Amino acid sequence: MSGFVDLHCHLLPAVDDGARTLEDALEMARALVDLGFSTVAPSPHARPEYAPVDVVEARLAELKAALEQARIPLSLGRNAENILDDAFLRGLGSPSARMLGEGRVALVELPYTAPVPALPDILFRIRTKGVVPLIAHPERCLEFERKGRAAEAVRAGAHLQLDVGALIGRYGPMAKKLARAFLDDGLYAVAATDLHGPVGARDWVGRALGELRSRVGEEASGRLLRGNPSRLLAGESLESDQD
Ligand SMILES: [Fe+2]
Repeated sequence: MSGFVDLHCHLLPAVDDGARTLEDALEMARALVDLGFSTVAPSPHARPEYAPVDVVEARLAELKAALEQARIPLSLGRNAENILDDAFLRGLGSPSARMLGEGRVALVELPYTAPVPALPDILFRIRTKGVVPLIAHPERCLEFERKGRAAEAVRAGAHLQLDVGALIGRYGPMAKKLARAFLDDGLYAVAATDLHGPVGARDWVGRALGELRSRVGEEASGRLLRGNPSRLLAGESLESDQD
């Protein structure tokens, strides 16, 4: 059986605040493989202060070659962590949009500490462009502290992505509380690591995956870590996503 699929991971070296060197990236990749991952779609921050898309593409090709040479069995896909801003919205549907895989999903993050009152309208606008928003770590964003907001986003056609570290308190008590509540309510479509570096990775990601399994069981955690993310990466719809 194929392994887990991570759709949020800062694995590409020297493109953002993730892996600093190729050695960092290989160490992170080894840890992920040991923990059961077989595929990662590295998601560098798509921000002006970080590497542009041509550099990202080159690093992706370099890392693929280095993984092969080091005999680390990890496949890589195309991805980016977009910011929910006007430039992102304007670019959707054009070749410049930084999508997940070859599909119609875009990974996007909301501000951590600012409200987004227009969220339902924005999600509607994204969907009318034929794009499915995959919202990164909602449990870490102020907007989703509003009661019912996460369920509303799912109803508006977004998929929510759990950052598994939140389950073990890596981002504080509020993110932990929200992550557990959204998980209990079945609001997440996928779970991801948002791994930024190799230090302690094997330990904390391992504990977080264990916590996820113990909270939802083997079948649901398999769906969040394997079934759903591999479908999204392949450009397929999830059951909740038929339209
Ligand atoms: Fe991230």
